[in-house]
Formats: sequence, C-alpha cells, structure tokens
Amino acid sequence: MRLGILTGGGDCPGLNPLIRGVVKRGILEFGHEFVGIENGYQGLMEPDLARPLTINDTRGILPKGGTILGTSNKANPFQYSVRENGKLVERDLSPQALAKFKELKLDGLIAVGGDGTLSIAHRLAGLGIKVVGCPKTIDNDLSGTDQTFGFDTARAFCTEAIDRLHSTAESHDRVMVVEIMGRHAGFLTLDSGIAGGADVILIPEIPYRIESIVEKIKRRGTRKRSFSIIAISEGAFPQGGTVSVLQKAEDIPGRGVVRLGGSGKVLADELAHHIEAEIRVTVLGHLQRGGGPTAADRLLATMFGCRVLDLVRDGQWNHMVALRDGKLTSVSLAESRKERTVDPAGDSVRFAKSMGVNFGD
Ligand code: F6P
Repeated sequence: MRLGILTGGGDCPGLNPLIRGVVKRGILEFGHEFVGIENGYQGLMEPDLARPLTINDTRGILPKGGTILGTSNKANPFQYSVRENGKLVERDLSPQALAKFKELKLDGLIAVGGDGTLSIAHRLAGLGIKVVGCPKTIDNDLSGTDQTFGFDTARAFCTEAIDRLHSTAESHDRVMVVEIMGRHAGFLTLDSGIAGGADVILIPEIPYRIESIVEKIKRRGTRKRSFSIIAISEGAFPQGGTVSVLQKAEDIPGRGVVRLGGSGKVLADELAHHIEAEIRVTVLGHLQRGGGPTAADRLLATMFGCRVLDLVRDGQWNHMVALRDGKLTSVSLAESRKERTVDPAGDSVRFAKSMGVNFGD
C-alpha cells in the first residue's frame, strides 16, 4: 500500500520514534511505500509539502525530540485560513484535502496528533479518506487511551524543574510558583507535583481558594524552614474566577482553541496581598515539550507506530491505536474527541492530600 503519514498539533517527544516504527515495520514486514506529509494538515492543502519517506530518512531519529515531518496546530482543512481582500478568513477547504489524497495516490493516511488532529482525521474519514490515528500529547488528556506518548518525558522534565526550584526556595525561604502546561487537564502538574514534592498543587479540575493556600503557606512558615513550592497548571483558576488566557481562539486563525498562560502570575499577585515571603514565578513553557524522549516514551511511540499498521492491515479505518489496561488496542476516532481530565476523587489526589499536599480547596 501507499500510505501518507503526518504529525499535527503541538510537537512532543516520541513523534520521531513513532515515525521510525511505522516506516521500518511498514517497509520491512508489509512492503508498504510511505509519503511524508509535512507541517500537519497544511501538507494536504498546499503544494510541495509531500515527499517519499524511506528507512534512510528515519536513521538516527529515535532519540530526537520534535518531528522530522514538521507540524502545525493551525492547519485545519475545515477551517483553513486564507487571505481574502487583505484579511485572514477561515474557509472549509476540506475537498482540497481529499483531492490531494487522491493526487498523491494514497491508499491510506496515518494521522498522529492530539484531540484537534484526531478530530479532523475523524471528519476527513467522513469525506471518504481512509485514515487511522495515533494519539500523542504531553497533556495526556485524550479519553480513548490511558496514556499518550510525550507525557512521560514532559513529566520527568517538570519534576526535575521542581527539584531544582527547591534549591532557591530553601536557600532564600521563598515561595516558588511553577506554572506547568496541560491545557484543561492537570495530569502533568499533579504527577510532577507529587514526584517533585510540591507543597501546593493547583489543577483545573479543582478550582482553588486563595485562603486555603495562604493558610498552608503560613503553617509552613511557623517552622524553622518556611519555603513553599506551588505547582500550578496553566489551566488552573480560582473559585468563581476564570482561566488565564494569553490569546483568544478568535485571534488565532485556524487554531480553534485559546492559548492559555499566566495562571502563575495571577496567583502570585494575589498571594502577595496576603503573605510577607518573597514570591517568584517560573513558567516552564515550551521547555516541557522539548528534548529527546524518555525510554518509556520511545517504547510507547514505537509500539503505537508498529500497532497502527495492524489497523491498516485489518481495514480498521477511522480508528486509532490506544493503550488500555496496559495493553495495546484500538478505539474509534470518535473517542479522541472527548477530553480526559484528572479525577479529583482519584487515588493520586486522595493520597497526596493524605500526605499534607494542599490542592487549594
Ligand atoms: O497541547 C500541548 C500544549 O503544549 C499545551 O500543554 C499548551 O497549552 C499548548 O500546547 C501550547 O501551544 P503552543 O505551542 O501553540 O503555544
């Protein structure tokens, strides 16, 4: 078969191992031919963004972050931004994607991405494109799978960042606020907060009360050492308040969702009215998405890449690979449209609370 492969949405560690797994198994075991589609769905909409992908192209990419195919979180064929009379407007140009699929003589398309990319894949299936998906994201917020690759690497990085922030926090008796990505899901903050020993963990699933956090910090301040580490999700917000937004969805053509950021500063500014200790904010930003994948992410991505070819072999179009209860499986792409969030009553939150971690509630 002649298969196209694209990576869409934000880059994350593991995309290259996945591409390598797909191409190597696909060529060696099935004799498939691959076309690399560049910059996510943009490669299906514009000329000259598709190229043959061979085993040679995958040499040496296993330990590398990012994606050799490039990506975009703004190229949506159903809401494609085009310039009309000097203005950027969004148009449904999805028939162009179908035409490109045919022009490239593809028998199928492998779409690798988060909920945005996979939802588009599902809609393209409705147009007749034979498509299968692979879930990725550092946010771990896809409902169809227990884990996405990219998450483990980002979690390890955030944990190390919290470890490092302890040095200054302890030496200066400061309150260190660390803002962590994850959109509207708190998995990254929760896991790295627990692994790094944060005193306060604030996640979108548990809107916080400033009084609760102040009380926790003041209680710690009565001991000899009075520093505190607060891990806060970019999507966390106070009770009765709203999320901190850097850019509204309507200001980012083609993206369809807001760009979050600033929750750490909002919290620090409010805390400053209540406590005397010095407060510093660190925003981990895109460092969380960078660097080479951990062994666990390389493995999961490689397994997803190999397993997705079973879906192609079995004609299981409009499905994606998934990890459920520790086993590789497949689920309908419709599943990827639902967001997964932290269970505030789950074991992780419960046990962290039992050890004295404050969640701001
Ligand atoms: O979905 C991955 C993610 O890193 C989110 O955690 C974050 O909100 C968003 O992407 C940032 O997007 P961008 O790279 O466009 O700033």
